[in-house]
Amino acid sequence: MKILVIGSGGREHALVWKIAQSKLVDKIFCVPGNAGITKIAECIDIKAEDIPRLLDFARREKIDLTVVGPEVPLSLGIVDEFLRYNLKIFGPNKSAARMEGSKIFSKELMAKYNVPTADFKFFDDLGEAKEYINKIGAPCVIKADGLAAGKGVVVAKSVEEAIAAAESMLKDKIFGEAGRRIIVEECLQGEEASILVFTDSKSVVPFASAQDYKRVFNNDQGPNTGGMGAYSPAPVVTEGLFKEILEKVIYRTIDGLAKEGIEYKGVLYAGIMVTKDGPKTLEFNVRFGDPETEAILPRLKSDLVEVMLALSEGKLSRLGALEWDPRTCVCVVCASGGYPGNYEKDKVISGLEDVERMEDINVFHAGTKARIINDPGQRQEVEYFTNGGRVLGITGLGKTIKDAIDNTYQAVGKISFQGMHYRKDIGRGGCHE
Ligand code: AMP
Ligand code: GLY
Repeated sequence: MKILVIGSGGREHALVWKIAQSKLVDKIFCVPGNAGITKIAECIDIKAEDIPRLLDFARREKIDLTVVGPEVPLSLGIVDEFLRYNLKIFGPNKSAARMEGSKIFSKELMAKYNVPTADFKFFDDLGEAKEYINKIGAPCVIKADGLAAGKGVVVAKSVEEAIAAAESMLKDKIFGEAGRRIIVEECLQGEEASILVFTDSKSVVPFASAQDYKRVFNNDQGPNTGGMGAYSPAPVVTEGLFKEILEKVIYRTIDGLAKEGIEYKGVLYAGIMVTKDGPKTLEFNVRFGDPETEAILPRLKSDLVEVMLALSEGKLSRLGALEWDPRTCVCVVCASGGYPGNYEKDKVISGLEDVERMEDINVFHAGTKARIINDPGQRQEVEYFTNGGRVLGITGLGKTIKDAIDNTYQAVGKISFQGMHYRKDIGRGGCHE
């Protein structure tokens, strides 16, 4: 089979790496990909949002299955377009992708179908939003309705901060149309977990649990990022809690969508806050998480392509549960100096070869590019450079959480580039040794 993976991050490197292990696969393309992905797939320079060119490419190459990494092409309706030409594609259609593309859509669905979530109201009028913020007080959370590249959520500690966030979205329009409407919601306290499931709308096959570290600095300090690390499984998600989340969040949501006439096919990702009153839903994503995927896939023993094929054919019920490596996997993201603010690119990355030789370690590239450095005629050598905010996801397996942490950080210690920074506490919340 020929597979096309869309995207360019650590998540897509992990997907391509896992897909390459399937017996069903002969050839993998990735658009646009990155320097790490080039080693296992043919990378083609098409933008992930350029649906007409992606469609042309898939038709010309007779792609058997397309796997979509990021949310933007899903929200733009790539699945609907591919299906019109009878091309198999893994992911929800445009209507179902509103679960991530419009936070108001997803909150209203949760309210209607009794899915536990934070209390909320939504506004397009600044005066009314301010009045409500003053009424509920701080802390509270301000969210842009639409996609804002992970920057559309402000957890405000004071009323002033909340009002400033509402003004920046509704008046200054920092997110454009995505911030034309905002949500003001109750601030939840607790530990977060990511629950991902495969669903074809009729059946659900759960993925392993994971926990993502969103803040840039140790001990959850500093601004939010795309994710500075993750580990799987997340000990906060006990077996009982997992069942409760499936019942109260996942099944109710998928059934609710079905009742609204929306067939959800793909990965459904619920961001959960485990509060003292039980699990509450922070958000839904309509795709694999990044960096959760980098921490989950090294533990998956089943053939991912088989699952995706069954799902896109609506035959998920024929598959049993997924098979997992019982070990823990930790992923530490190495980021560029300055990230999540402005950062420089083009810094030479050293230590990669050393780390790639280590046992139970995987290096997933995110923002990297490669250059051939030797003179013509000599053995070619490749040098890697930074090309983004999140540069590498170093993942390591271990029998215990402590082993996984030690293994991963030993590898991270061998990597360097100018300005590199990373969190030192990934997995620590779950490690009480
Ligand atoms: P979201 O994109 O909605 O998941 O929000 C990003 C991050 O903001 C979440 O992972 C949480 O850390 C935080 N967050 C979102 N909603 C809330 C809430 N209601 N209470 C507390 N923190 C929240
Ligand atoms: N790790 C958070 C996300 O993928 O949205």
